[in-house]
Amino acid sequence: MSDTSGEREKREAGRYAADLVGQGTVIGLGTGSTVFFAMERLGERIKEGLEFAGVPTSYQAAFRARQYGIPLTDLDENLILDLTIDGADQVSHDLSLIKGRGGAQVREKIVAAASRRLYIVVDESKCASHLDAVVPVEVLPFAWATVTGRIATLGGRPVLREGQGKDGPVITDNGNFILDCSFGALSDPAGMEGTLDRIPGVVGSGIFAGFTKKTIVIVGGGSGCRVLPPSRAPHH
Ligand code: A5P
Repeated sequence: MSDTSGEREKREAGRYAADLVGQGTVIGLGTGSTVFFAMERLGERIKEGLEFAGVPTSYQAAFRARQYGIPLTDLDENLILDLTIDGADQVSHDLSLIKGRGGAQVREKIVAAASRRLYIVVDESKCASHLDAVVPVEVLPFAWATVTGRIATLGGRPVLREGQGKDGPVITDNGNFILDCSFGALSDPAGMEGTLDRIPGVVGSGIFAGFTKKTIVIVGGGSGCRVLPPSRAPHH
């Protein structure tokens, strides 16, 4: 199969993370195209004898996992997960993240919170000195207009995410709407995450500032991966 360079980098990162999954573990399965490559490798490792189970963060993750023969479980059965492999839209130098391009950030954050370690798989284009990408915010449909107004008063520019293949708003796996919010550069990602979480009607934002201590970012470079921070590079 011939990859574009972006796909090659994503594949490298995904496969690197998949090789870190240990026998008998329970892991979180993130959403998005980079995690697909991890699942592809996990499918190969299952055929080589690896036994583990995955908690999917979306319908998409569950469908793809089944395709690769990955046994699925849930958080009811596993309160603590050994690790999660997930992608990101943007990664800052302090390992805070923006996620949710695929609309899965709420379940992704729940699964990340339950995980001992969070492996974030990205290509170089996702790495930035500070976070300034669009922040997806999942909102209850009942509250979307009031939340829109509150976010505007915070200096954000919220846009209701519209569907493709369906007229009208995107409906998340949880039955909610998404506001894509431009704030420019986030000087205090953790502060903004908390502020957004406190708006009545917000279910969860794509700012992930609370997991930096357990996050390991794997950046596919086209001819090898680098790990951030280098001190957390696993023995591979
Ligand atoms: C899903 O909602 C997102 O958080 C994804 O994890 C993120 O957008 C990364 O996706 P890609 O690996 O496709 O870039």
